[in-house]
Amino acid sequence: MDRLTLPRPLDAHLHLRDGAALAAVLPDSARQFADAVVMPNLKPPVRSTADALAYRQRIVAALPEGADFQPHMTLYLTDQTPPDEVEKAVAAGIVGVKLYPAGATTNSAEGVTDLDALRPVLAELSRLGLPLLIHGEVTHDSVDIFDRERVFVETVLSPLLDALPDLPVVLEHVTSAAGVAFVRAAGPRVAATLTAHHLLVDRNALLVGGIRPHYYCLPILKRREDREALLEAATSGDPAFFLGTDSAPHAVDAKEAACGCAGCYTAHAALELYAEAFDGVGCLDRLPFFAATAGRRFYGLPAPAGRLTLARGEWQPPSQLPFGEGRSLRPFRSEAPLSWRVLA
Ligand code: DOR
Ligand code: ZN
Repeated sequence: MDRLTLPRPLDAHLHLRDGAALAAVLPDSARQFADAVVMPNLKPPVRSTADALAYRQRIVAALPEGADFQPHMTLYLTDQTPPDEVEKAVAAGIVGVKLYPAGATTNSAEGVTDLDALRPVLAELSRLGLPLLIHGEVTHDSVDIFDRERVFVETVLSPLLDALPDLPVVLEHVTSAAGVAFVRAAGPRVAATLTAHHLLVDRNALLVGGIRPHYYCLPILKRREDREALLEAATSGDPAFFLGTDSAPHAVDAKEAACGCAGCYTAHAALELYAEAFDGVGCLDRLPFFAATAGRRFYGLPAPAGRLTLARGEWQPPSQLPFGEGRSLRPFRSEAPLSWRVLA
């Protein structure tokens, strides 16, 4: 197969940032995706429906002339989120509420410290069928960073699903075989997004032959066996697993630092990176379902107009891209050519 045409896909997990950074990165996503579920971890976070609608307007205003791209907005759950915010969110078309355990990742300082105290909010999500989107890692010092997703699934997610049997949940950017097995067994109200970078590389890319900060993201890259489990899930045709890039841009100097930020920028070549991963296991024919159907089915989103074609052929992505205000970012995997290209 040297060509693949698919409906314009959904990015079900995207960081667009704000201001000059938003203007710099948004065209990359709008070129390939018809729509995206936009993460709320701005500084300050997108806490309320009013914040989300204002952020949505800034995104729409930053779109290139003629672009056809729908941002689907999310709220950032904090210890102070009032239960009645959920009804307002649903009425305004917000598609989910994001749970960041406090301290788990970039801009999560205002995240949740006590999930039990938020039972009234979670009960409202369940009653109204608004998905809880979860960064699934525990943050205790006592748990090794490579085990944080598995321990979260066992000690937080499993009891949460038992307590709220109707709550729709997305385990965002699942990275481990344990996470995949859990989602598979959990039934149709539980889904997971999968990033291109976790499908393409394991922790050796981060650590062998020198430390490579542009491969540092959270949840951290895991073992080869985990990557194999993720690839198997992505290409299985199980509607519980769908595309979410977690494209997370940071300026080069914030990544190449003594304490570098977590996040990989993949929006410049998102579909090409997924195509490489799917093609690598001989399953390119499964990419349209994963990229354009399964996520929209979970969220109840309409199929968009338009199609996009990928063609086999080597090209070298740039190693630096503008990130606004004189800064630049380094896209993921720009040190080697890619073998698929989205046709203009
Ligand atoms: O690597 C990551 N970067 N993981 C996240 O969960 C957040 C993201 C970001 O916003 O930079
Ligand atoms: Zn993310």
